[in-house]
Amino acid sequence: GPFSPDELLRVAHTAARAGAELAHRMRREGVHIAAAKSSIVDVVTDADRAAETLIIGIIVAERPRDSILGEEGGESVTGDSGITWLVDPIDGTVNYLYNIPAYAVSVAAAVRDPRGPDGWYPLAGCVINPSTGEVFTATRGGGAFRNDHPLRVNPAESLDRALVGTGFGYTAEKRRAQGEVVARLLPAVRDIRRLGSAALDLCGVAAGTLDAYYESGLNPWDYGAGVLIAAEAGAVVLGRTGDGQPGTDFLLAAGSAIAEPLRSIVT
Ligand code: IPD
Repeated sequence: GPFSPDELLRVAHTAARAGAELAHRMRREGVHIAAAKSSIVDVVTDADRAAETLIIGIIVAERPRDSILGEEGGESVTGDSGITWLVDPIDGTVNYLYNIPAYAVSVAAAVRDPRGPDGWYPLAGCVINPSTGEVFTATRGGGAFRNDHPLRVNPAESLDRALVGTGFGYTAEKRRAQGEVVARLLPAVRDIRRLGSAALDLCGVAAGTLDAYYESGLNPWDYGAGVLIAAEAGAVVLGRTGDGQPGTDFLLAAGSAIAEPLRSIVT
């Protein structure tokens, strides 16, 4: 049926793989900045646009009645099936620009449900790092995998033993506030990483290459697939407050023992 998570994952994987191959090939040929977005540090390359067009084409061909929300195209396709695809053709655009091998293609299929971040409840998701060949996948209730091996979050027991990932927005105002949070957190944890891709940070929590991750100001295409992959690997996903929804305002993913202590420092 239209909501079969395995079928949605097959489409997510097919589309993400095509986008990953194209982005990887275009990176080898040299990067061209197409435009600046929210600020001069926030750019879109020809590869972002080409990969998004390719991914959307594959999804539309397979699932003509679904909606698509893509980073570069806005709400470009509106269907009536109840499924919305959250597409980030290149998450970690600055890494892509500098040829740092930590950018990813992220594709998720979600329904509207208040249990999900910002009301996006992902049913299937795929994140691919073209530089390493890592393919992260998850379906709701079906577990999370890296190249078909099951993933489980680290059982970190205290913040002082936790490696915490985070990320920063593109405006000076956001960064001033985010820098203050980092200054508070740094003395309390093993260390902090700013890897440059929210999707890979969330997959890192799932795989145990990070103990936790938090960020403010993400968009649904950044976290759509990653948040499902982290949750299916056993991560707790929290918002800013106890009953507040995770999402653009604030999102935290961590092992259960450190989730609350981390939230109390960074919010
Ligand atoms: C960005 C990355 C980065 C995060 C930013 C995002 P983009 O996505 O995920 O790690 O800190 O908030 O905007 O712009 O490279 O797709």
